[in-house]
Amino acid sequence: AAIMKGKFDHFMQKEIFEQPESVVNTMRGRVNFEGHKVTLGGLRAYLPFIRRCRRIVFCACGTSYHSALATRAIFEELTEIPVVIELASDFLDRKTPIFRDDVCVFVSQSGETADTILALRYCLERGALCVGVVNSVGSTLSRETHCGIHINAGPEIGVASTKAYTSQYIALMLMALQLSEDRISLSERRNSIIQGLYELPNQIKAVLDVDKSLRELAGSVLANQRSLLLMGRGYQHATCLEGALKIKEISYMHSEGILAGELKHGPLALIDENMPVIIIMTQDSLYPKVQSAFAQITARKAHPIVICNEGDTDVNAEYFIRVPKTVDCLQGLLNIIPLQLLSYHLAVKNGFDVDFPRNLAKSVTTE
Ligand code: G6P
Repeated sequence: AAIMKGKFDHFMQKEIFEQPESVVNTMRGRVNFEGHKVTLGGLRAYLPFIRRCRRIVFCACGTSYHSALATRAIFEELTEIPVVIELASDFLDRKTPIFRDDVCVFVSQSGETADTILALRYCLERGALCVGVVNSVGSTLSRETHCGIHINAGPEIGVASTKAYTSQYIALMLMALQLSEDRISLSERRNSIIQGLYELPNQIKAVLDVDKSLRELAGSVLANQRSLLLMGRGYQHATCLEGALKIKEISYMHSEGILAGELKHGPLALIDENMPVIIIMTQDSLYPKVQSAFAQITARKAHPIVICNEGDTDVNAEYFIRVPKTVDCLQGLLNIIPLQLLSYHLAVKNGFDVDFPRNLAKSVTTE
């Protein structure tokens, strides 16, 4: 069937607004919210092997790489297995050592990205267990891996990936939850994450309601700017990189995601009263450290736009984007949505082709 834009102006916009449903589709039939249990049928036969592997190597490109980065910390926390994250092209350039007791996870929306497929074949040759986390059913990646998870986000047309990112994030989250189900000491933590997943669709709807204020931000403070820095740390580092990628891809504005902990090692030199900055200050254990980054940039006269939780009052800034609070490791699912919307509005305002940005392809099938 032909995929239509319906009431939306662009596929990207439609896909952003589909997220309350697409995240449900990723979890459907897999999460038992009352029993606090996660079952990924595609991994079942391999779970004992994965639980005993020597490390997990994630391999992906672009947005898919960011979904692995976003879930790395929770993977390490829940599984206690060392996790390595690789950009597929660099992984191949380095001829990285891979062993038979490694589990290699390939994340790809299309399942056809050449760099990722070549990395998969490299790992297959070396005898590693290869897992696919793919949106397109029947794609090369889903056929050539040993096992995997379909993220079930539905077709994504916009070149800038949006709903696939949130669904990849959730699929990896589910994998970490399933791998750790036999760890009694973690049951409280796991239950709170599963409860957070239950509440997520409604919280995404609430974030989508701030769309109008993001359009205003794109038309005022951020209009005609040449550059935009996004800062955060911990779980939000991935959100910053992914937000900056969205902005580059479709609004053609220079944008950089910066790990707030690295600020003092260079990026601070960029800060003055004219440098646009977004800083992610949602509540988690790193909040005091992000507050100190906020103080460092405002001391250099920056006027940051602050992404924070609803009801937070202890930040003194001119511009706020407020999002509901969820469990720390899920907060990135909510925080990325205003950045998706912001990049969309920046592009529309400039009259750019949102669904087909210049020089880019939805799926890059050459090395
Ligand atoms: C291209 C697309 C990106 C995408 C990346 C990886 O560069 O423009 O949006 O994130 O490929 O694609 P994949 O299909 O492997 O997730």
